Amino acid sequence: MGGSGKTTTSINLAGALGIENRGHDVLLVDMDPQGAATEGTGFEDRYRADVPSLYEVLTDIDREDEINDLIQSHQEMDVIPAHEQLFGLEQEIQNLPKTEERLEGALDAITHDYDYIVIDTPPHLGPIANNSLVAAGNLVVPVNPVRRSIRALETLFEQVRIIEKHYRDIERLGLVVNDVQYPTDNDTEYMLDWFDDFADRIPIYHVRNRVALKRAWNSGVSIFAHEEECDMEAVYDELAGDIETRVQEEVSA
Ligand SMILES: Nc1ncnc2c1ncn2[C@@H]1O[C@H](COP(=O)(O)OP(=O)(O)OP(=O)(O)O)[C@@H](O)[C@H]1O
Ligand SMILES: [Mg+2]
Repeated sequence: MGGSGKTTTSINLAGALGIENRGHDVLLVDMDPQGAATEGTGFEDRYRADVPSLYEVLTDIDREDEINDLIQSHQEMDVIPAHEQLFGLEQEIQNLPKTEERLEGALDAITHDYDYIVIDTPPHLGPIANNSLVAAGNLVVPVNPVRRSIRALETLFEQVRIIEKHYRDIERLGLVVNDVQYPTDNDTEYMLDWFDDFADRIPIYHVRNRVALKRAWNSGVSIFAHEEECDMEAVYDELAGDIETRVQEEVSA
């Protein structure tokens, strides 16, 4: 869903998973051709650089191992930046075998053993979103409390069920109701209630509108490494903690 907070959620969830008391090794992968997560972690110079990128790695199975060379070191996490060439990726991989499993294969070729890999996706459903779902097997959905989220969410969950039918189960880790403005108007209240109906199927988190989140993005870090205090750190921290618990349960099950 366009502008719903996918990139903000990705960077701050990755930041929360990587904070010192958790101490996890985290990789953030920017699969959006627009490269907002790349810019928001300070790697915009890689976006147009004349170097191999995810494009080569995902279109040429013989070059899958080169994914290791794409990893950039950020103060909080590792990052695989997007590249402007990704705009041509969907068209290209549609004609290749294993269209939806390219990212899964490439992430398997990473030699470093990450505790968590967070993937930021483009706003539209399509091969890149499908690749991300198949590779991750997990899903965090940011949504804005506006009416157009209803159809967008229904369409997304339909697509998730299709992926589940063909590939694997997808764990629904969280619905992040993002950019909630207080005081709320009637429309926002209606949507907050509407989302609450999902509560038995997916944990719900509320992230309020906070300019500090924008400023952290401008500074190339998550809210956790940003100098400014922000009360929304607690929400990302809760999301990260719940994901940790869920993964531990899966491992011990
Ligand atoms: N909780 C929030 N408070 C204030 N600003 C926010 C919040 N969440 C997101 N924003 C701002 O809204 C804009 C869109 O957010 P973001 O880039 O995370 O959305 P997106 O879903 O990744 O967008 P796209 O569909 O273009 O990839 C950004 O400028 C971001 O800084
Ligand atoms: Mg984005």
